[in-house]
Amino acid sequence: MLFAAIKAFHLLALVFGSAAALGNIYLGLAKGPHDLAAPGYTNTLRKAWRYTSLFAIIVLWATGLVLMFARYGIWIPGFAFNAKIAFALVLTAIILFMNLMAPGWARRGGPPSYVPVLSWISAVSLLLIVTLAAFAFG
Ligand code: HEM
Repeated sequence: MLFAAIKAFHLLALVFGSAAALGNIYLGLAKGPHDLAAPGYTNTLRKAWRYTSLFAIIVLWATGLVLMFARYGIWIPGFAFNAKIAFALVLTAIILFMNLMAPGWARRGGPPSYVPVLSWISAVSLLLIVTLAAFAFG
């Protein structure tokens, strides 16, 4: 019962995190000659997604570690889980970096040009993590 509740939080955090990851991708793809300039609007969305992803990744690690210790011990051997955690580390590093740097970028007139690449790496990592989780746990 408690395990199921914690797993529900794990999956709910994933729902919030995926909204943030895919939102950034859709916003990037929506750029085009037809765009109306709405920097305040897009910046508000980006900020909401940045905080959402920070909240989600913290909950994912907290609940994920508890689930692991409760059911499997100190580690889960096998390629799928190792790879899942490797991509989770990549995603975590990007989320922390973005949250740390974004206020400074805003003051200096906007994010550097490589930021959309980081958004793509985050979104692909998230999709891979979910796929690997399915293979790790059957
Ligand atoms: C972005 C990060 C993460 C995502 C998107 C994610 C996603 C998922 C998903 C979709 C499942 C369900 C898989 C299934 O039951 O078939 C799952 C289960 C699980 N995750 Fe994660 N996870 C993340 C991070 C972590 C971390 C950091 C850990 C531990 C260090 C972890 C440990 C677990 C465990 C132990 C289960 C299995 C629970 C069970 O036996 O039912 N996860 N995760």
